[in-house]
Amino acid sequence: MTDFYVAAPGESSPPVPDGPRLCRGDDMRVVHNAFLWGYERAPGLVRGVAAGDTVRSGLVGRWLGDLDATLHVHHESEDTLLWDRLEGRAPACALHVGQMRAHHAQVQALLHEAEPLLTSWRDSADPATGERLADAYERMLAVLRVHLRREVVEMIPVVEKVLTEAEWQELGEHSMQAIPRSRLLPQIGFMITASPDAGPAMLDDAPTPVRWMYRLFGRRQFERTFRDLFPGEPIPRT
Ligand SMILES: [Fe+2]
Ligand SMILES: [Fe+2]
Repeated sequence: MTDFYVAAPGESSPPVPDGPRLCRGDDMRVVHNAFLWGYERAPGLVRGVAAGDTVRSGLVGRWLGDLDATLHVHHESEDTLLWDRLEGRAPACALHVGQMRAHHAQVQALLHEAEPLLTSWRDSADPATGERLADAYERMLAVLRVHLRREVVEMIPVVEKVLTEAEWQELGEHSMQAIPRSRLLPQIGFMITASPDAGPAMLDDAPTPVRWMYRLFGRRQFERTFRDLFPGEPIPRT
């Protein structure tokens, strides 16, 4: 299988500053894989709900609402804690940082577009609204396939040279604090599902309370949600 995280023809990367690697940015791929996994399924999940089946639209809509909120928080963490530091410490990457900010603005506009559609569709299971929502998710996936890939390829090598491990951890903690535990725990299962190679190691590195809570409650919540969303599909081991 070819690696998704490679530069496309015509894309350039900023120069990577000299010096030792100060932090490991591998976990960005794991997080991004989870978003890609979710948004690849979003249009099909919405279109698969029968007209008027509000039980199903409620269930699918809650999961998509959580995914949207988590993506928003992830970008907010980067906007708050990453871009200014990168521009300040590696000025040669300013152009690329500007492109990352522009991608975030595009995603934010699509999240704004999707939000009222999601609320209305979740309560009505109206197919016309669902189609507009599925279309917004398709356009979001197109932007994310570029942004999530390019951020890993172009930004992470610079991040690893100019951010300390503590500063990098701060980014993950900022996101985790903004996401309610009830939503965070089952999402760990989806994260492991989307990255079966690297996801389990990320859970091992998570703070002890998160790890234990996932094992005690989160995994069961994930399995129940997975079974509801994708009936008949084998439940991934997490
Ligand atoms: Fe990211
Ligand atoms: Fe980003």
